[in-house]
Amino acid sequence: LLASVLVLSPGALLAADMTIGFSQIGSESGWRAAETTVTRQEAESRGIELKFADAQQKQENQIKAIRGFIAQGVDAILLAPVVATGWDEVLEEAKDAEIPVVLLDRTVDAPEDLYLTAVTSDLVHEGRVAGEWLAEEMAGEDCRIVELQGTTGSSPAIDRKKGFEEGIAGQDNLEIVRSQTGDFTRAQGKVVMESFLKAEGGDTICALYAHNDDMAVGAIQAIKEAGLKPGEDIKIVAIDAVPDAHLAIANGEMNATIELTPNMAGPALDALEAYLANGTEPAKWIQTESKLYTAADDNQAVYEEKKNLGY
Ligand code: AHR
Repeated sequence: LLASVLVLSPGALLAADMTIGFSQIGSESGWRAAETTVTRQEAESRGIELKFADAQQKQENQIKAIRGFIAQGVDAILLAPVVATGWDEVLEEAKDAEIPVVLLDRTVDAPEDLYLTAVTSDLVHEGRVAGEWLAEEMAGEDCRIVELQGTTGSSPAIDRKKGFEEGIAGQDNLEIVRSQTGDFTRAQGKVVMESFLKAEGGDTICALYAHNDDMAVGAIQAIKEAGLKPGEDIKIVAIDAVPDAHLAIANGEMNATIELTPNMAGPALDALEAYLANGTEPAKWIQTESKLYTAADDNQAVYEEKKNLGY
């Protein structure tokens, strides 16, 4: 009985005694790589043993990793879910094993009692800020927009699309003429932008909205190769605020980006430490901040600052 009480109730576990499994999506973007670095640093500075599993963009690998963590009896699991659906069964298994799961940077379509908390930004808000920025920038001028979506079925791709559409709603001068996934990668951002330019004719596209900076950076290359000026001929707004986006804005090749902190692990581990030490239940959603950067900011300085942060 004593043993089962110790297993069933969270309590008295110190960070230095914790082993945490981290199921990471992969390394599709600069932001993702930074999140991995920061998570490792956060765990190390607290004396937490972190077991890291890179899923190489596949949900089945994430499910396998979570089952492996459960079998190893970790104290908690961090999960950055590649897509939003299909998690119920494995989250039930973690729950049955009394292992709290914290979601990082993306949300899932699963009952809330299957995870302890989610540390994410307001993904719809990010898209809305991008749309509102473009609406203001165009000030009533006609503008044909192309959109590079994130990974199909992922919560940021769904929510950032929705938010952007809300941000430009009611602006008859703005129209999304093409929208396709670039899978959050630079390489696909370039390939898909090339196809947009070919299909539409470069001079008819007025703006690009990319669901992350890496795709925007790939698209910038495609725009230049098409003989056009990114940031001038085609306005560009994206999300993440990675160093290369700040540099592109400083160079006039991109116009705006919305910051997503790569430090999701800090708040996640704070919540887990409190929960495992004394059972303190965190809020279901721990929201990180979103900040808009434009050419009005000192992007060269921010670029240099961020370069030292693990990006
Ligand atoms: O879930 C967060 C998104 O995933 C980031 O915006 C993107 O760069 C990453 O790959």
